[in-house]
Amino acid sequence: MKIISSPAEMTAFSKSARSNGEKIALVPTMGALHEGHLSLVRKAKELADTVVVSIFVNPTQFGPNEDFDKYPRQLEEDAAKCEAAGADAVFAPSVSDIYRPDASTYVNEEDISRYLCGKTRPKHFRGVTTIVTILFNIVRPDIAVFGEKDAQQVSIIKRMVRDLFMGVEIVTGEIVRDENGLALSSRNKYLDKMERLGASRLHAALEDGRRLCIEGCSNVDRIKAHVINKVTNAKTRVIYVEIVDAETSLPMLEAVPGKSRISAAIWYGQTRLIDNIRI
Ligand code: PAF
Repeated sequence: MKIISSPAEMTAFSKSARSNGEKIALVPTMGALHEGHLSLVRKAKELADTVVVSIFVNPTQFGPNEDFDKYPRQLEEDAAKCEAAGADAVFAPSVSDIYRPDASTYVNEEDISRYLCGKTRPKHFRGVTTIVTILFNIVRPDIAVFGEKDAQQVSIIKRMVRDLFMGVEIVTGEIVRDENGLALSSRNKYLDKMERLGASRLHAALEDGRRLCIEGCSNVDRIKAHVINKVTNAKTRVIYVEIVDAETSLPMLEAVPGKSRISAAIWYGQTRLIDNIRI
């Protein structure tokens, strides 16, 4: 497995794979890889001949008071995990490899990005769509694989790829959870053992919300109130709970089994967690 830091070398690697008739899949990540990421790498390997995992903590998607500086960075460990999962290359550029000091071009999705995480993280999705476009331009993948835990991110990337005729197939991988139901996330590293156990109440509350809907309740306010009530305790602060369209992540006026998703973000102590569940 190759570890590449230069964008030019990455493009040359992909060009050579393509000239050999190989299909290329990209798994974009910010590193601190866990089983959720590795399941995406394995899925990519089933769908393509050459799998590239990008590892880049992208500064443009973090707000001024967010965790860019303390975000876990562990390239050696991550590269070993990628190799074991079947990746052919890790692309790990530095910030200066990607952004020129006078970079002034961004990609902005302007509909879905207004809701959910977009409300409290104003430039976050602009950073995501910009870096994903940059990665697509460098790696030139046929397929890109993203995790469903970031369902709103997936909806936004699908919209961007459609609107801008990017010609990359977007594939998703299911949420991977720990034994208590907590969705795996690189930010779980901020939680100690007891906190991880406590934070699993988010998934339990979403499950309860889904149950309410499946039992016949379509009233979004009732479902939201139910989930908020279940998740709230001394350590949690709810950022949002919303019933959204499972495909577009846009808010729905009624919950519909088979079509809706409950999406939520909370602060658990000092850690921001997101999760969702299909109804
Ligand atoms: O989901 C993530 O880890 C990031 O938002 C992504 C897609 C790698 C872009 O930096």
